[in-house]
Amino acid sequence: MEKPDNCILVIFGASGDLTSRKLIPSLFRLYKQDLLPDKFVVLGVGRTQLTDDAFRDRFREELSSMKDVSKNSKNPRDFLRMLYYCSIDTKDPEAYHDVKDRLAELDKEKETNGNYLFYLATSPSMYKITAESLGKFDLHKQDTQNQNTHKKYRRLIVEKPFGYDLDSAKKLNSELHNVFDEEQIFRIDHYLGKETVQNLFVTRFANGMFEPIWNRNYIHHIEITSCESIGIENRGKYYETSGALRDMVQNHLLQLVSLVAMEPPSSFQSYSVRNEKLKIFESLRAIKDEEVAKYVIRGQYGASRIRGENILGYRQERDVSKDSRTETYVAVKFFIDNWRWGGMPFYIRTGKRLPTTVAEIVIHFKATPHKLFQKIGIDESCNQLVIRIQPDEGILLRFGMKVPGAGFNVQNVSMIFKYSELADVYLPAAYERLLLDSMLGDSTLFSRGDSVIECWKFVEPILRAWENDPSIKLYGYPAGTWGPEHADDLIEESDMTWRYPCKNLSDSDSYCEL
Ligand code: BG6
Repeated sequence: MEKPDNCILVIFGASGDLTSRKLIPSLFRLYKQDLLPDKFVVLGVGRTQLTDDAFRDRFREELSSMKDVSKNSKNPRDFLRMLYYCSIDTKDPEAYHDVKDRLAELDKEKETNGNYLFYLATSPSMYKITAESLGKFDLHKQDTQNQNTHKKYRRLIVEKPFGYDLDSAKKLNSELHNVFDEEQIFRIDHYLGKETVQNLFVTRFANGMFEPIWNRNYIHHIEITSCESIGIENRGKYYETSGALRDMVQNHLLQLVSLVAMEPPSSFQSYSVRNEKLKIFESLRAIKDEEVAKYVIRGQYGASRIRGENILGYRQERDVSKDSRTETYVAVKFFIDNWRWGGMPFYIRTGKRLPTTVAEIVIHFKATPHKLFQKIGIDESCNQLVIRIQPDEGILLRFGMKVPGAGFNVQNVSMIFKYSELADVYLPAAYERLLLDSMLGDSTLFSRGDSVIECWKFVEPILRAWENDPSIKLYGYPAGTWGPEHADDLIEESDMTWRYPCKNLSDSDSYCEL
């Protein structure tokens, strides 16, 4: 694996949750695998007053207790020495001068070649001021060639949410573009960093057998689910302004759709891959105002009792309004208007407080044209390919098999591949891959500005219809169930339903884990 050039990673929002939960542990795992640059520095920036040592101390315990990802002798102490902290009033543009000075000092001392990555791990309201302030002090300016013939780079990594709706996303794009070029911007969608999501490229484009049948002629419909058994935890304030459509559909689920539906790119260069994805987003058929109630089902969880424990309803959660109409569940039926997929429905759903935590893609193949064995019991000639994103990562193929013995009884069986059965395989966390790729300057697994806008264009009419038409129902569902029953009506054929997955890839049961 190629090692990135020496660099400094500047984390804005360094005293926040994302830094301690995801960024520092992921960097440490990269360090353990010897994937960090030879000379590497993290400069945390935030309003909280901390010394370098106090910043390091925040992570010491957690890193020491982390499960080993490699057998080498690298230890947290040496890693923590790479961490520095700079406290500024992040709302004051002048204060960014201190960041510039500190960077120059560290760059000189640690020989990081003037390569800086700026990670916006702050609240989105800070994105504009941070980018502008970096621009004010020329921290965005890249060197094509300095005297050591080293190309000095400057990159901006932006966390989600990228905008709140179509207008705000366009505005944010243009605010960032006022300072940084598109090729310098790395928009994170952590789903793209998941190992199993990256494997979608390989499943589709490194195997000859799938491509000929990967279209409307052989596939009946495609279903994508990302469900969670947790509620909104302590994120009421954020979730009230978001809801499931903005939180999961506009980004993660549509990204999965694009990978399942895109045409084979001409190469595995970022430009080619992201062009093909964009074409899918552009081909999403907009749901008309009058169709929203029929094609988009939204729900909100109510109080319930699960395995003896009382579970609060969404409206009783902290920082949630007592009459909130924020959706915690959404299921959508839609079409992609292009040659490959014309007329074939896609179904996506996501929700909090569902029976289990699972993300998966199910390709439902069409039934055989003639049902030879129907009269002796089976009507399940619709094969399924289940691509499990998490947990119990793997791939499952369902197909009919003759039950041994007299007659021709057919039963569906599963052929399964599981990552856990590969010897010595460590599945890296999404942030590890994305941090590494951003240091390598590979933007393939990041969302491009034009794609983000197209995704908002798809979601926007749904948001507007919900806002303007009070007759569109927000269905209640008890916590721990599969969401509103009305979502079943989206799949109109009488013998078809959603797959109700369990944690274990091969199990599927509508009552699992309840
Ligand atoms: C985040 C959402 O982007 O993704 C959360 O804001 C959600 O609400 C999370 O829980 C799901 O990610 P994962 O990786 O746990 O499936």
